[in-house]
Amino acid sequence: MTSAKIIDGKAFAATIRARVSDHVTRLREEHDLTPGLAVVLVGEDPASQVYVRMKGKQTLEVGMASFEHRLDASTSQEDLLALVHQLNADPKVHGILVQLPLPDHVDSNTVINAIAPEKDVDGFHISNAGLLATGQNAMVPCTPLGSLMMLRDQLGSLSGLDAVVVGRSNIVGKPMAQLLLGESCTVTIAHSRTKNLAEVVRRADIVVAAVGRRKMIPGDWIKPGATVIDVGINRIPNGDKTRLVGDVDFDSAVQVAGAITPVPGGVGPMTIACLLANTVTACCRIHGLRPPEGLTA
Ligand code: GUN
Repeated sequence: MTSAKIIDGKAFAATIRARVSDHVTRLREEHDLTPGLAVVLVGEDPASQVYVRMKGKQTLEVGMASFEHRLDASTSQEDLLALVHQLNADPKVHGILVQLPLPDHVDSNTVINAIAPEKDVDGFHISNAGLLATGQNAMVPCTPLGSLMMLRDQLGSLSGLDAVVVGRSNIVGKPMAQLLLGESCTVTIAHSRTKNLAEVVRRADIVVAAVGRRKMIPGDWIKPGATVIDVGINRIPNGDKTRLVGDVDFDSAVQVAGAITPVPGGVGPMTIACLLANTVTACCRIHGLRPPEGLTA
């Protein structure tokens, strides 16, 4: 049995952050600009609190400005929209991220679509979804962008390869499929209702798993030598802690794949690195400057 190359997302994310940091220095020295990222957290979802803390810390570490807005879970949609409008108008803020999920009394789409598209570093605004789908300069959602960077790094050109994206969310599955189509892959979007999912996955040179079901894809569904990107982050109780596992059964898939991302330490670290990259891109575009090479789709 051969064993796949294990893609080190932690190390790759560190190289992205170093490039972001270099560009932040250039923007400050040559243009007197400091990219700023505003993160809005409504309520006290524990996982969201961890993510928001990590985002703020890494934003400062690359030399950008970080603005955190923590609002009570009972905050009205009207008040949240007022904050978004204030951030849209703030020249120190180049990226705005409203952490999801939002409380039930708030309509997420209304809030996301209130963000100025050029500051929408999550790439969730309908304008950015439309720009991506039509091959124009979009803000690209961070997890698919990080996944694409890892695929390009592994494979070079993706042209003509068969890619299967398992999962159809607006955050990962759909934008990932658009990016792969943009790379001239033959793209299949599969999901939990797909007939003969095993057969569909077996055809793929590239598998992106983003369904949110632990170990759903076993090694015997993987074509020998395929590149496997596991976006799943499933929390398994482990005593008084939790353990993270992906959507792919790593132990069996690693025997078959050519390269595979682990969970944790694969796609996860790339997501925040790409958020920082998107914030630099947003700052450059807002000021009519060229975004850095290699940090955009
Ligand atoms: N919640 C889980 N993932 C994400 C993400 O990528 N962006 C935002 N805004 N919220 C999230």
